[in-house]
Amino acid sequence: MESLKKLTEIKERFTNAIEACGDMKTLEDIRVRYAGRKGELTGILRGLSDLSVEEKKEVGRTANILKNEFNAKIQEARERLEKQPEKRGAATDVTMPGTLPRVGTLHPLTQVMERINEIFVSLGFRVEEGPEIETEFYNFEALNIPLDHPSRDAFDTFYVDDGHVLRSHTSNVQIHVMQGQKPPIQAIMPGRVYRPDAVDATHSFMFHQVEGLMVDKGINFSDLKGVLSVFCKSMFGEDIKMRLRPHFFPFTEPSAEVDISCIMCKGAGCRVCSGNGWLEILGAGMVNPKVFEAVGYDPERYTGFAFGMGVERIAMLLYGIDDIRLFYENDVRFLEQFK
Ligand code: DAH
Repeated sequence: MESLKKLTEIKERFTNAIEACGDMKTLEDIRVRYAGRKGELTGILRGLSDLSVEEKKEVGRTANILKNEFNAKIQEARERLEKQPEKRGAATDVTMPGTLPRVGTLHPLTQVMERINEIFVSLGFRVEEGPEIETEFYNFEALNIPLDHPSRDAFDTFYVDDGHVLRSHTSNVQIHVMQGQKPPIQAIMPGRVYRPDAVDATHSFMFHQVEGLMVDKGINFSDLKGVLSVFCKSMFGEDIKMRLRPHFFPFTEPSAEVDISCIMCKGAGCRVCSGNGWLEILGAGMVNPKVFEAVGYDPERYTGFAFGMGVERIAMLLYGIDDIRLFYENDVRFLEQFK
């Protein structure tokens, strides 16, 4: 039967067209062409009068079934396209501003640590790293902090198991570096450290330090002062003043604490510097001969200096942050300010 064959052929074309259809405009064209008032199916129904009664029944029934099927398929395609906003064609407003992806940023502590590293790298230091879980030997004894000495208190830490501790300073890396290399040595050692301190606005059980070490024949205190002075000016500004105050560290002799003139009040005295005009930013000194002995260096041949600073402390001063806990809370509103 001619008409039935035609219907099968129309159905095939319709199915291909609807499957390939990707936008509303094409869908409307398909509807008009196949299921519209002047469409192909209507055309077939109109021609029914020329057929025999038998054929009329058969073709009419098939054509009506197809019409329902086409309409259902068209509706289905419309719903599918409506879920894809970009396929709606005319409804897209191309002048609308796009949605910007939220771009992350390096953590402020990472930024400050990288800045510290960069300054020392520009002075010829290389960056070294060491373990956070450490033996007592590296955290204490090799650094001239004997088991029964009161100075051990200042570097008290968490014990992981018998003989292993979480390092309480980055000074342990000095020992690893010296054991693995011969002088000249010029290294900085950034990393995390741990102390069993109660957490408050200025204390945390975990924080970050950058350690420094320079060892060679003839290194003296003025080398230390020169390097630290360049660091302070690069970090805090050319007009910053630096002073060294005598202090005690077991691993250096002599030792000093290093202050800079207050970056808030320029030395006049304010809340940040407790009114005295100076801010303590690091500890330093000449490597104690006992430390050289612990790593097998001859203290008669070599001298050196070392220093250590807290990254949080420096970041808090630079950005005027008054609570150390802000660094660890992962609050995006805080972190976003450091783009
Ligand atoms: N390790 C010291 C601390 O945690 C900081 C320090 C002071 C490191 C003097 C040094 C140094 O290398 O020479 O407080």
